[in-house]
Amino acid sequence: EKDGFDHYMLKEIHEQPRSLRHTMAGRIDEAKQMVKLPELDLSPETVKGIEKIYIVACGTAYHAGMIGKHVIENLAKIPVEIDVASEFRYRNPLFGQKTLTVVVSQSGETADTLAALREAKRNGSSVLAITNVVGSSIAREADHVMTTKAGPEIAVASTKAYTSQLIAFYLLGIYFAQEKKSMEASDCAALVQELQKLPDQVEKILGHAEEIRQFAISIKEERQMFFLGRGLDYAVSLEGSLKLKEISYIHSEAYPAGELKHGTLALIEEGTRVIALSTQPHLHEKMVSNITEVKARGAVVLGVALEDNVELHRSVDEVCLIPATHPLLAPVLCVIPLQLIAYYTSVSLGNDVDRPRNLAKSVTVE
Ligand code: M6R
Repeated sequence: EKDGFDHYMLKEIHEQPRSLRHTMAGRIDEAKQMVKLPELDLSPETVKGIEKIYIVACGTAYHAGMIGKHVIENLAKIPVEIDVASEFRYRNPLFGQKTLTVVVSQSGETADTLAALREAKRNGSSVLAITNVVGSSIAREADHVMTTKAGPEIAVASTKAYTSQLIAFYLLGIYFAQEKKSMEASDCAALVQELQKLPDQVEKILGHAEEIRQFAISIKEERQMFFLGRGLDYAVSLEGSLKLKEISYIHSEAYPAGELKHGTLALIEEGTRVIALSTQPHLHEKMVSNITEVKARGAVVLGVALEDNVELHRSVDEVCLIPATHPLLAPVLCVIPLQLIAYYTSVSLGNDVDRPRNLAKSVTVE
């Protein structure tokens, strides 16, 4: 069942090249290099009329939604608000006639996400669900459904569902942009081309699992760790930090690197382990200066950075390389080493990787 892997989580991490291909399958017009999403059954007029989007989810799906916000705003120029479902359902959000609510849920059964969906519908918003489970409660109650097709995810720590949710958001963002003509056709085509390279690039990163395992062994005694990033890298940091907490029980905090000086820098001392993500070219320089700041206080830094970012490589103690891609797509690559770090740390501590303490795969009560 585990296909020769020691745990479901490791199997699911390694399945990602395949699951990403499945998420894209049938949704790309190869000849035109365009996205097609007939299953959504949205008319071009409806798409053009969307004034605002809410993205609502929990945990890892929420972290995917953070990337989704960035992608949709950048490509389709529609304002997006993102909320944790347990907050959204109780905060009386403002809905207009032309608000679309996007709920994201691997299981399709998360109680708070389902309640948020119902709240949105009660307020007249149409709801689009991104889910991995066909026929789940969320899929049944939503007006439009986009299935992630990642295949069953057994490990409590979500991995392949997250990267498939990211692909779903890229497809959705490009599709909205096509319908709204908010992007040049050639730019859309270029992005679609880069999107299709991701599975092979993930495969390449998975080939470095042994180096990442060594790093994980080196952090297993830590009591606390920090993840730093800016922009999309900050959203990925949150996911890396959650993964580490969830299965290794090491306390970690993800921080937008520019906020460090406003408090968190006080926690950095001699030997503090920091993982710094830098995949966004327009933020490279800023990240280098944040890394210099923490190193000056004694931090030991692992950089997760683009292959050609030599300046950043020089500024860190160790580096994990990410192949070149379109900046919006980098999260799919950047999260892979973080998943592996969490996995190998948990294994080296002897934890129950697939069934971490206190947690359930599907949170059906609030
Ligand atoms: O099934 P869902 O995507 O709605 O689940 C949401 C969260 O409970 C889930 O992502 C949780 O955070 C994971 N265990 C994280 O790895």
